[in-house]
Amino acid sequence: MTEVPEHLLQRAAEARARLAGEPAPSASGSDAPAAASVPAAVTADPTPAVPEEPKAPEPVAPYVEAGLRRKTVPVWIVPVLAFLPFWAIYYVGYLENPPVTGGFAFEGGEANGAQCAGCHGGAGGGGTGRQLSGGEVIATFPANDEGVAQMVYWVASGTAGAVDGVYGDPARPGGQREAGSFGVMGGFGGGLSAEELAAVVYHERSSFGELDADTVEHELHLLEELVHVVDEAGESFDGASLDDVRLWVDAASTKLAVDGEMAAE
Ligand code: HEC
Repeated sequence: MTEVPEHLLQRAAEARARLAGEPAPSASGSDAPAAASVPAAVTADPTPAVPEEPKAPEPVAPYVEAGLRRKTVPVWIVPVLAFLPFWAIYYVGYLENPPVTGGFAFEGGEANGAQCAGCHGGAGGGGTGRQLSGGEVIATFPANDEGVAQMVYWVASGTAGAVDGVYGDPARPGGQREAGSFGVMGGFGGGLSAEELAAVVYHERSSFGELDADTVEHELHLLEELVHVVDEAGESFDGASLDDVRLWVDAASTKLAVDGEMAAE
């Protein structure tokens, strides 16, 4: 006789009970394997489970996409940034350096226009005061330490300060200058600062003296150094004697010579 599998009998019983409106008969011991087979079938199911579903590409936020597409910092920015501090130093130096010499010459030009041109003429041609142009100023005050010292002293003290009634180079063509022979010039030691006075002396000598470029440059350094010497000594050209000024010019000249030797080594 053909054996009817247990689970089919069970199902038939259940179906009968359902039709009769009775509660399903409790599962017999043979129920367990059948129940166990259900989860087994589920796990064996080849249909891909939820996690294996083909993933839709995750939507990228517009701001992330923009970030990815944006150009990154270019490589050449590295040397540019590394060079920046040097450029800054150079730039500051460029700003500061020229006005030192330019300022000195400029200051001299300003003082000349404001204080001297009225009598000596803007171009040094002379008038109430003596002619300075055409090398005249250098004929009186030669291009050496003594000539510079005498001129600084003259501009500071004027006609009244002339020692023994004379001023300037004794070997001047036409003879040494006699104070008051052309009129009277006041002193500027009180009206001008040490720097303004040295600057105006530089201006008259470099503009009207017909000196060569090397001499002009030397006198620029000498007069700038003279200002340092006077400032450091806490002195002023106002009321200074000719010998005081000679000493200061001498100190400035020595300083320049030492600096020059050190630079040459
Ligand atoms: C009020 C007019 C007047 C003014 C301003 C004046 N000077 Fe004179 N300067 C004279 C006179 C006058 C003499 C001649 C003085 C004498 O014979 O004692 C003279 C002489 C000089 C000399 C000598 C020239 C030589 O060959 O003998 C120099 C250098 C000089 N002045 C420079 C200056 C400078 C620099 C200034 C401006 C800071 C200045 N003077 C302002 C009237 C003036």
